[in-house]
Amino acid sequence: MKLRACVPATSANLSCGFDVLGLALDLTYEVEVETTEERSFFLHHRGEGEGEVPQDERNLFFVAVRKTWERLGFEGVGLRVCATNDIPIARGLGSSAACIVAGVTVANALCGGKLKFEEMLELAVALEGHPDNVIPAFVGGFTIALREEGRVFYQRFSFPPLFSLFVLIPNYTLSTEIMRGVLPASYPREDVVFSLSHLAFLLGSLFTRDREGFFRALEDRIHEPYRGKYVTGFPEVKAYVKGKGLGNVVISGSGPTLLLVLSRPLEEEEKREIAGIFAARGVAVRIQEVHPEEKGARVEIL
Ligand code: HSE
Repeated sequence: MKLRACVPATSANLSCGFDVLGLALDLTYEVEVETTEERSFFLHHRGEGEGEVPQDERNLFFVAVRKTWERLGFEGVGLRVCATNDIPIARGLGSSAACIVAGVTVANALCGGKLKFEEMLELAVALEGHPDNVIPAFVGGFTIALREEGRVFYQRFSFPPLFSLFVLIPNYTLSTEIMRGVLPASYPREDVVFSLSHLAFLLGSLFTRDREGFFRALEDRIHEPYRGKYVTGFPEVKAYVKGKGLGNVVISGSGPTLLLVLSRPLEEEEKREIAGIFAARGVAVRIQEVHPEEKGARVEIL
């Protein structure tokens, strides 16, 4: 049996929506999978992360496949996989969520789709540890996550076409686990109210198509102040973008990529100036325009 699965990149948090908001982007993790007689796993990985990710059963795709089969009580088959990846690894663009969602989706399809969507979602969220990348990776669009007593609920919207989006992807990685470790265990009430009010304002701005309100809402006191120290260029690029009245800047996921949410595309000179901010700190950066992705994970039998 042969099949292909395709999963989008995601940018989690959008500043004040820590562990809650996620947006699918038009970068893709794609796998072509063939079942084999001998019961081994091999994956050939091309594109982002080539030469860095394990190609045997330690690959996160296979970890997700095994967990899904364990859940189904399926003893498994061998798999040969060709992965083609546009999603930079360990940069805050949901590469691990995409890999997990691909693994769960493929494993379930190979078992005749026995798991319900909610079961796949809960399995993938348990593997990833938080829901905000996994949900838009599954369903595309702009999503709100809610976890309650081990269950995962979500709402999905189309992200309105009001913004130009750019990602600034630096040439270094950050571990999500470490970046979660730098966060405090508790917060002063005023910081909680600050973030809650910004999150509510952000959603209200989307309902009313208020672009300036959306820019205003992209501020946070739950994670960005603590992570900003490790994310090169964050305060400086934010000051640059806000100073020019172009929009706002957030840390994508747990970083180090920055997501620019703008009222218009960057001009070449602005890109050079932004690259200069990074260069002055010894970091090379890739500046790339991205778009919201409506399509979530899909699998087709070949
Ligand atoms: N919400 C998660 C975090 C996303 O910020 O730690 C990780 O990509």
